[in-house]
Amino acid sequence: MSQKNQTLGEFIIENQSAFKYTSGELSRLINSIRLAAKVVNHEVNKAGLVDIIGTAGDTNIQGEDQQKLDVYANNKFIQTMTKRNIVCGIASEEEDDFISINSQDENHQNKYIVLIDPLDGSSNIDVNVSVGTIFSIYRRVTPVGTPVTIDDFLQKGNQQVAAGYIIYGTSTMIVYTTGDGVNGFTLNPAIGTFYLSHPDMQFPEDGKIYSVNEGNYIHFPQGIKNYIKYCQMEEGDRPYTSRYIGSLVSDFHRNMIKGGIYMYPKSSKASNGKLRLLYECNPMAFLAEQANGKASDGFNRIMDIEPTELHQRVPFICGSKNMVEKAEEFMRNA
Ligand code: AHG
Ligand code: MN
Ligand code: MN
Repeated sequence: MSQKNQTLGEFIIENQSAFKYTSGELSRLINSIRLAAKVVNHEVNKAGLVDIIGTAGDTNIQGEDQQKLDVYANNKFIQTMTKRNIVCGIASEEEDDFISINSQDENHQNKYIVLIDPLDGSSNIDVNVSVGTIFSIYRRVTPVGTPVTIDDFLQKGNQQVAAGYIIYGTSTMIVYTTGDGVNGFTLNPAIGTFYLSHPDMQFPEDGKIYSVNEGNYIHFPQGIKNYIKYCQMEEGDRPYTSRYIGSLVSDFHRNMIKGGIYMYPKSSKASNGKLRLLYECNPMAFLAEQANGKASDGFNRIMDIEPTELHQRVPFICGSKNMVEKAEEFMRNA
């Protein structure tokens, strides 16, 4: 049971026993993500000071090369999880191939692999707009004690054991699920502690916000064009409001709280859209479903798609259940 003023640390310990494969390993993993999130948050908050303290490519006062924030975030998350020796493999948007951890060590007993988008919405950094981190966690399918293989990473989204995001916004939050609902924790930066601020988050079944990069309208499939026109039509509770930040994490977060739909469809320029199945769409889909929402590629459930490549892209429609179902109806009938 959640209690008032509960910290993320307390919540993790309290909920460990409710988790079906409990061994403490998943708790340690989420703890390490919490730690890396605080470090990355600190760096993201300094982004506006680049002219004063140096930009990517410069050398800082310690003689270290300054890194772009997505590279920095990538390194921090990987280092934190690797040094604590709690995962057997990591795949990241910023790495061409997956990373196998301690693959030489026969005593290596770690079960979990992590897929991560270390900095999502990174083009928003320069303009002081919210960015995020997205993560997805699976149990490995190959035997413990052996090096991980690509099969450990190419699992369907419906096999995820946990997923979540960090949003570096007007406040910094961690929102995650281990398959038992979605909970959100807000950082008190003064003391570096996350508190349970949004217990049991739920997408409203209906919403009035649609989020899509309408600049690509001309290239969208007819079903999406028709659905956008439907959103704009004067009828019942429509027209809806259009809101598009261009940070999936931020657009998703707002839509989950207020009710809405996010779409990154395929287009005549990009046959599978832009977003990555394994570390953007699947974790968001898991969160959406755990929060009574829905995630689809227009025709199929995102989490049932069989992955074939680490960095594969997929069209993505996600949000309030009735809105996603309506968009699917337009896709079917186009
Ligand atoms: P990333 O910064 O990790 O590359 O992801 C950006 C993604 C997503 O966050 C966002 O919704 C989308 O790209 C925006 O794309 P467009 O600029 O094409 O709309
Ligand atoms: Mn991204
Ligand atoms: Mn990214």
